[in-house]
Amino acid sequence: MMTKTVIVTGAAGGMGLEALRILAQRDINVVCVDLDQASVSQAINAIGPTKGRFLAIGADVSDDAAVRNYVARAVEEFGALHGVYNIAGIEGNVVPVTEATVEDFDRVVAVNARSVFLNMKYATPHLVAAGGGSIVSTGSYLATRGYPLCGCYGASKHAVVGITKSFALEVAAQNVRANVVAPGATDTRMMRATFESMSSDAAAAEAALVAAIPQHRMADAEEVVATGIWLLLDAPSHITGQVLRVDGGLSAA
Ligand SMILES: NC(=O)c1ccc[n+]([C@@H]2O[C@H](COP(=O)([O-])OP(=O)(O)OC[C@H]3O[C@@H](n4cnc5c(N)ncnc54)[C@H](O)[C@@H]3O)[C@@H](O)[C@H]2O)c1
Repeated sequence: MMTKTVIVTGAAGGMGLEALRILAQRDINVVCVDLDQASVSQAINAIGPTKGRFLAIGADVSDDAAVRNYVARAVEEFGALHGVYNIAGIEGNVVPVTEATVEDFDRVVAVNARSVFLNMKYATPHLVAAGGGSIVSTGSYLATRGYPLCGCYGASKHAVVGITKSFALEVAAQNVRANVVAPGATDTRMMRATFESMSSDAAAAEAALVAAIPQHRMADAEEVVATGIWLLLDAPSHITGQVLRVDGGLSAA
């Protein structure tokens, strides 16, 4: 069987690194994208030997030309493209809507949502040319729910779900699937930074949030991205336009 090629964004972050670790065990070429190429190379070195070829790219996923370029580079380097896993994201400023600036709103929406649009826009012709493919994007508990101090971030994540549903309908007949994996609190830099911003007592903020999760723990990055990779490469092909929550039961309540 032909070696597949996928793009993973946010590759040097908490979830990104775990995604690379899982993909390294499989015969898959991975175009690894994050803001800083050196940190992507470091992440690739950290995971050790890979079955497929891994390529490190430094790029801003909110930038039109940058996304167009790395998609083109992926196809140039590996001959085809079969999937994109959008992981890159920022928490933005954790403040009430009334205190957020226009710049706060625009930046978080650009990084978290415009990036998904751009990856869909530029990758899809190649997925279709390959006979089909899959795009998985990272939502959040805040992609379908609200939470104080997280209005701008929540807007960006609701947008990820919105574009995924319409896009999935547009490309379904061309054998391209699109889904969202929606993590709850996951133990990475982003969640720790959010606890720090939410309260002068980060440990108390963490304890309150963990207490509200039915499983009484945060997710490990590995269990979130294992779900994303399943949706990307292994899920039954009838699954498209869906939001799959990995949140220890939080949203079931
Ligand atoms: N950690 C959580 O609790 C949690 C919960 C729900 C959703 N998420 C989402 O999961 C995804 C991964 O987050 P994480 O927890 O691994 O955080 P993280 O901060 O460890 O990783 C995010 C990565 O995205 C990269 N990035 C940021 N802006 C970028 C840009 N403009 N271009 C390219 N790369 C950029 C960062 O450099 C970083 O490596 C994000 O989309 C986040 O919103 C996280």
